[in-house]
Amino acid sequence: MKGIILAGGSATRLYPLSKAISKQIMPVYDKPMIYYPLSTLMLAGIREVLIISTPRDLPMFEELLGDGTRLGMRLMYKVQEVPNGLAQAFVIGKEFLNGDKGCLILGDNMFHGMGFERMLRDAAGLERGACIFGYEVKDPSAYGVVEFDEEGKVLSLEEKPAKPKSNYAIPGLYFYDETVCDKAASLKPSARGEYEITDLNKLYLAEGTLKVKLFTRGFAWLDTGNCDSLLDAGNYIATIQNRQGFYVACIEEIAWHNGWISLDQLHALGKEMKTAYGRYLESLGHSN
Ligand code: G1P
Repeated sequence: MKGIILAGGSATRLYPLSKAISKQIMPVYDKPMIYYPLSTLMLAGIREVLIISTPRDLPMFEELLGDGTRLGMRLMYKVQEVPNGLAQAFVIGKEFLNGDKGCLILGDNMFHGMGFERMLRDAAGLERGACIFGYEVKDPSAYGVVEFDEEGKVLSLEEKPAKPKSNYAIPGLYFYDETVCDKAASLKPSARGEYEITDLNKLYLAEGTLKVKLFTRGFAWLDTGNCDSLLDAGNYIATIQNRQGFYVACIEEIAWHNGWISLDQLHALGKEMKTAYGRYLESLGHSN
């Protein structure tokens, strides 16, 4: 299984100027937003990741994260010339996937909660079909929405419905088998002119191979779509980190936890940084 992060560059609601940089480069509390989706892929055990962004923003991601060697990973970069839909990730990423299974995460989707790593590892182990997630929200009309029957069987998927048939929004985290690139290439643009991820998921639904796993009450899927939700997300991360002392989305710590870098390498990375984040890395692995 390989991973793709789509870091689109939709910053218009976050800046006074519409032509500002991609929001995924902005920090959420103490680290760039893109660390959060990257850490999700890493927790799923995914070591090869393609980052897709706009021609203007992609070099910034590349400068920030490099080729992944320092995390024991392989990071690649590819431009999406026009933001014409999430499903395009599997057209742009076809060569990168090279016949492998693929997980897509959106660059502004942040997750945190108990049992997440287990859920991710299960989803990444999928043999056939697709695995997506459902998360109950008060107003799902800004999202993809999944409707179930009493037995939990998926009845419908809809993109941003005016009248949602359930309260289950579909977060921007999708696991697919090796047929995904062919399926993505067969899609037609929607009424709003985009290659919709929901249409891709509908192909798996029609085939009878779509699985939906639900996040439980208490699990955090954080929104970063406007100034208030971005601030809330930062405060959430600060609260958790400062209370427990464990960092959320610490990519170097996860690389070490996964056995991709040694404790010595982790400490050397921390030493280079000369920040609180760096001192945290240096403190890991000592019993106290
Ligand atoms: C996209 C998807 C939508 C999904 C959402 C999750 O919406 O189209 O199905 O629920 O991401 O963040 P967009 O970010 O394009 O509004």
